[in-house]
Amino acid sequence: GTEPPHLAPGRGVHDASRAAIAARHLRTDRWWLAPAATAAGLLAFVVYSTWRAFANADYYAAPYVSPFYSPCLAENCVPMKGGPNWEIFGSWWGLSPALLILIFPLGFRLTCYYYRKAYYRGFWASPPACAVAEPHGSYSGETRFPLILQNAHRYFFYTALPVAGILTYDTVLAFRDETYAWGHAGLGTVVFLVNIVLIWAYTLSCHSCRHIVGGRLKHFSKHPVRYRLWTWVGKLNTRHMQLAWASLFSVALADLYVYLLATGAFDDPRIF
Ligand code: FES
Repeated sequence: GTEPPHLAPGRGVHDASRAAIAARHLRTDRWWLAPAATAAGLLAFVVYSTWRAFANADYYAAPYVSPFYSPCLAENCVPMKGGPNWEIFGSWWGLSPALLILIFPLGFRLTCYYYRKAYYRGFWASPPACAVAEPHGSYSGETRFPLILQNAHRYFFYTALPVAGILTYDTVLAFRDETYAWGHAGLGTVVFLVNIVLIWAYTLSCHSCRHIVGGRLKHFSKHPVRYRLWTWVGKLNTRHMQLAWASLFSVALADLYVYLLATGAFDDPRIF
């Protein structure tokens, strides 16, 4: 008949190994709220970051550089005094310099265990929520191309470390004023500080990080330092979802702050 695949006899939740329940699911709560909110939040970030990444403008307002454009690897970047202007791509790169660098954090977040859960549910309904059957007739998990590439996550984790390091450097540079004199701070400095703390917390709370730090050990007692580090990463790891959202929001806010300064919407309030 015209039954959707998940309701067809012998398929999906009607597989012989599953309990015979006619209803699509038995949940009576608003189970769709979380995946819908997740999809809306991710979509908002994708729209915003795509616009900013391709804009190729308004990403520098001394002494702040937008985290979307740091480091700047092409010659077409605006000069940032003391900033991460490393023109290794020279003059042949004509597109927005943000595209050269954003592939690394993008790959890191796209392959992140939490974001995978988020967009598998939010965008693919695979599954839509706990105990809600997915509408797809077959399921191959992450065993085939392209999803098998999710295994690259640990390598994206390695690239996320220097990226976080560079954003830390930018935060240090934010302790200057607009004339590049040291020992000052503005509201932007606070925005950058909050962002870098959240970026590091998200990065270090990564599941791959936890495994790299404390995985594959037979005896924790023989590796006291790694055990101690593993317990710290583990504590952060329990908050990985919250850190994923908080750092996504803070990195967009840091970029927006620089955009507003660069376009002259307002002046950075100085704290000292
Ligand atoms: Fe989320 Fe690694 S699991 S960043």
